[in-house]
Amino acid sequence: MGIQITPSVLNADLSRLADEVARIPSSDWVHVDVMDGHFVPNLTIGVPVFESLVKNTDLPLDAHLMIEDPDRWAPAYAEAGAKSVTFHAEAAKAPVRLARELRAKGARASMALKPATGIEQYADMLGELDMLLIMTVEPGFGGQKFLDVCLPKIRRARELISAAGLEVWLQVDGGVSLDTIERCAEAGADVFVAGSAVFSAADPDAMVRDLKKAAEA
Ligand code: DX5
Ligand code: ZN
Repeated sequence: MGIQITPSVLNADLSRLADEVARIPSSDWVHVDVMDGHFVPNLTIGVPVFESLVKNTDLPLDAHLMIEDPDRWAPAYAEAGAKSVTFHAEAAKAPVRLARELRAKGARASMALKPATGIEQYADMLGELDMLLIMTVEPGFGGQKFLDVCLPKIRRARELISAAGLEVWLQVDGGVSLDTIERCAEAGADVFVAGSAVFSAADPDAMVRDLKKAAEA
């Protein structure tokens, strides 16, 4: 699939969500951060707003669910039109069952790991996933500093995926910018979330293209 850029709309103008997404047509995906005020200390949007955005853009949406009990709530995002649904390993009670359910509903199944969550315990279930997200900040807020301490885990995840001969995409989220994207790409990531870097740029779509070039370099 090659390098893909997926801007996060968390730091966009949330009252004009569809207009904000229309400003980034070069994006491969749009990353929608769903927070419940429990799994993370912040609250954003839920299924109704997500579903409205699906109807108002042609870009595929990935729902990044930073919520408790994704086993219960994640399938609703697939039903609402998410092309990809990302749940957190730390919150899922039955991650394999959940991944299978998401795929059965026609969405790509993706699992996220917070910075302190190890990868080894999930090595045997990578084949159940279409994408693995390695968080490079503590989830909850945009605009935080990239955590270099997560780079070895990106490298290890790429090793495990390659050794198993899988096609799992490897995504990074948190503090990704022109300053940090090359490090992530070099470690083996191929899908890049960028929130503040894109939406604080004078020309967000040019930033999407610049990030892609930097990751491909
Ligand atoms: C953080 C979210 C990220 C965030 C990224 O909890 O999951 O998607 O919006 O924002 P930046 O790119 O500004 O770190
Ligand atoms: Zn996110």
